[in-house]
Amino acid sequence: MNLNSKLPDVGVTIFTVMTHLANENGAINLSQGFPDFDVPPDLVNRVFHHMRSGSNQYAPMQGVLGLRERISEKVDALYGKQYDPISEITITAGATEAVFAAITAVAGPGDEVILFEPAYDAYVPAIRLNGGIPVPLNLRVPAYRIDWNEVREKVSSNTRAIILNSPHNPTGSILDETDTAALIEIVQSTEKEAGERLCRI
Ligand SMILES: Cc1ncc(COP(=O)(O)O)c(C=O)c1O
Repeated sequence: MNLNSKLPDVGVTIFTVMTHLANENGAINLSQGFPDFDVPPDLVNRVFHHMRSGSNQYAPMQGVLGLRERISEKVDALYGKQYDPISEITITAGATEAVFAAITAVAGPGDEVILFEPAYDAYVPAIRLNGGIPVPLNLRVPAYRIDWNEVREKVSSNTRAIILNSPHNPTGSILDETDTAALIEIVQSTEKEAGERLCRI
């Protein structure tokens, strides 16, 4: 059967390329997070315990409630932010699935999503598979910081999301309070404009 790729120009990921090269050359592989330690015995025991206790059925779609509750407590303890484990927390199989679901939820055909290059390589395919338009902005060397004036210029009525991560992968740069303040200022004025547009409609 002939399968037509939806993203024919997307090649092999950089992780696969680097891991292959590292294996071939016997080099230390810094490109992927392979743990160089065993699974902690307590974790193995807990998995064993739960499997023996009959936890072998489908989990609820949004994840087991006990896990969502512990995550809510942890986020509160770490960041002082309260999220409702029932309606505001969903468990996914890793960050890639979460990012894909979030992009799919907000970005459809013709919608724009701003991201910062160099970017984690799952973002652009996720945007494009949803018919969206990636709007890549370059981080500023040498510290790989965001140029918020550029973000301000690129935010339009078509913008549906701005993808940020801190520490940033792959540069390791960290957002500080001035970044957060700039983001809040841009997003707040955009919300106001979006609200006004909605009122006009
Ligand atoms: C920014 C970023 N997004 C997504 C991922 C992928 O995470 P996961 O393996 O949980 O899907 C990584 C992994 O390093 C990452 O750094």
